[in-house]
Amino acid sequence: MSKKLLFNLLAVLMLASLVLSACGAPTQPAATQAPAQPAAGGQKTYADMTLCYPQLGAESDWRTANTASIKETADKVGAKLIFSDAQQKQENQISAIRSCIQQGVNVIALPPVVETGWDAVLQEAKDANIPVIIVDRSVSADASMYSAHIGSDMEIEGKRSAEEFNKLLPNGGNILELSGTTGSGAAVGRAKGFREALNPNIKILDSQTGNFTRAEGKPVMEAFLKKYAGQIDGVFFHNDDMAIGAVEAIKAAGIKPGDLKMVSIDGTRGGFQLMIDGWLQADVECNPLLGPQTMDLALKLMNGEPITKEVLTNESVFYPDKAAELLPTRQY
Ligand code: AHR
Repeated sequence: MSKKLLFNLLAVLMLASLVLSACGAPTQPAATQAPAQPAAGGQKTYADMTLCYPQLGAESDWRTANTASIKETADKVGAKLIFSDAQQKQENQISAIRSCIQQGVNVIALPPVVETGWDAVLQEAKDANIPVIIVDRSVSADASMYSAHIGSDMEIEGKRSAEEFNKLLPNGGNILELSGTTGSGAAVGRAKGFREALNPNIKILDSQTGNFTRAEGKPVMEAFLKKYAGQIDGVFFHNDDMAIGAVEAIKAAGIKPGDLKMVSIDGTRGGFQLMIDGWLQADVECNPLLGPQTMDLALKLMNGEPITKEVLTNESVFYPDKAAELLPTRQY
């Protein structure tokens, strides 16, 4: 380049710089300017996140607590939440997921009402490059169809429940089962773990679904009490809401606390009250407070960070002796 050309070029650059400063453009040297969006090293933050949560319903106190945990966490971290209530219908959950895909959400967190029938919509999310976290219950779809699962080990909960009956009925006996929603990962897993761990001298006389609700738990128990009058030693409930509904029927039949050995799952305040009142001899914990873990995992997925595929919740069993002391501390 000739000296003259170089001189002209410098002059043009200086002029351009003067014009830009006069127009209010940034005057700092480029190297010290703050990067535009997003902040630290291109990492996405919660402010960049839109999370889709097609909740399966509002069937139980557990579910209400799960919804609150997701909403409160989204609020706290400043993420946008697209929430819907499918009223325990899979087709509603599928429509909600499709709507979220159309809206271009960043992550879908799905608590599936039942295990089967998700392949097509999971493929649609995959095709749209939207990661899916399965929350709470499981799906039967191949693990390559979703990014991760966060929730309880339902088989272990069933196994823990059986171990309680093995202690409560050491000489054996007849029990009944009020099962959760047919085909749900929670009901399938609990029933399986329960049967695998139950002593052979304890016979399950009958098993009927109460759909995880108080409203359905009561009539199922009424029918059981009529059909198996005088033959029942215990009842296993897949959740506390069905136990609460069933206890109304049990009371109405003149049965007293402790006459039947009863074990339930969830550890809600309602379950704790049943233990305090002498109806339940054990309540196996199932923790619904999955909001913080779900949001954390969703952000990691947005940033392409390594994640754990299966995140199982740490849980225990609650007993009547500590129920009154622990009740005020329960969050759900
Ligand atoms: O999937 C978790 C189960 O669903 C809870 O035990 C029950 O209360 C809820 O409805």
